[in-house]
Amino acid sequence: MRTALITGASRGIGHGIAVELARQGFGLTVTSRRDEDLTALAAELTDTGAPGVVPVAADLGDRTALAAVIDRHRQTYATMDALILSGGVGTGGALETLPAHRVDKTIAVNLTSAIAMVQTALPLLRAAAAADREHGARVIALSSITGVHAERGLAVYGASKAALISLMETVNAEESANGVMATAIAPAYVATDMSAWTTDTIPADTMIPVDDVVAVVRMLLEFGATTSLTKVVLSRSGTSGFTA
Ligand SMILES: NC(=O)c1ccc[n+]([C@@H]2O[C@H](COP(=O)([O-])OP(=O)(O)OC[C@H]3O[C@@H](n4cnc5c(N)ncnc54)[C@H](OP(=O)(O)O)[C@@H]3O)[C@@H](O)[C@H]2O)c1
Repeated sequence: MRTALITGASRGIGHGIAVELARQGFGLTVTSRRDEDLTALAAELTDTGAPGVVPVAADLGDRTALAAVIDRHRQTYATMDALILSGGVGTGGALETLPAHRVDKTIAVNLTSAIAMVQTALPLLRAAAAADREHGARVIALSSITGVHAERGLAVYGASKAALISLMETVNAEESANGVMATAIAPAYVATDMSAWTTDTIPADTMIPVDDVVAVVRMLLEFGATTSLTKVVLSRSGTSGFTA
């Protein structure tokens, strides 16, 4: 049985990935902030076909809690085939006036959590890669097109997402010889709660559907261990291709 830990699993892209991996028969650990969301999610994933679901509530801004999430995965499954980093916070506003507490939260939730989780999960990912030489193991992080092409009003969000791309590149450089590959998926607007604030100017049906991001994850998890794909940029049709 392959296993995956998914952050941001309660909603949006993370939820779509969790449902797909449940359908594929992965053993799952799912996390977001609220126990009640995760209890309902665990029932949904079990009904969909997951052979096991470990729900663990944690705030991505709390390093100690994140270590406990990975420890619960280790206790249940011993190894980890996929670490899916989808949890994140959207932060907009002109750089000049962005309050320090929002800067700190954005970096903590979107970036520091990813660094900490990769560091802690590496032994489990290496062990899974050693046990499944065909597929190896994968870290997949939800970055953003704003981490590739800067966008007004998204300075700190974009910076956190650019750093995630660099982090995935470095994981590949350091770990792919051990069978642990990493990918940053960098989409333009995806139709979820996070982008709901802008649907009056960018209708939801012109955004990237969650299912198309899920399709990228499915492809990555089908790849063999000799293939790395460091960055996947998804643009919205009808745009320059360089904008969220
Ligand atoms: N939607 C887009 O347009 C878009 C485009 C490019 C990239 N992305 C990136 O894709 C990822 C997923 O976005 P989405 O659209 O699926 O967002 P979403 O629908 O708003 O869901 C966000 C998820 O992250 C979790 N989360 C947020 N803050 C958290 C915290 N402090 N601690 C723990 N969990 C937290 C939420 O859990 P709770 O239930 O606890 O809130 C939820 O599960 C994010 O990293 C986002 O930056 C999104």
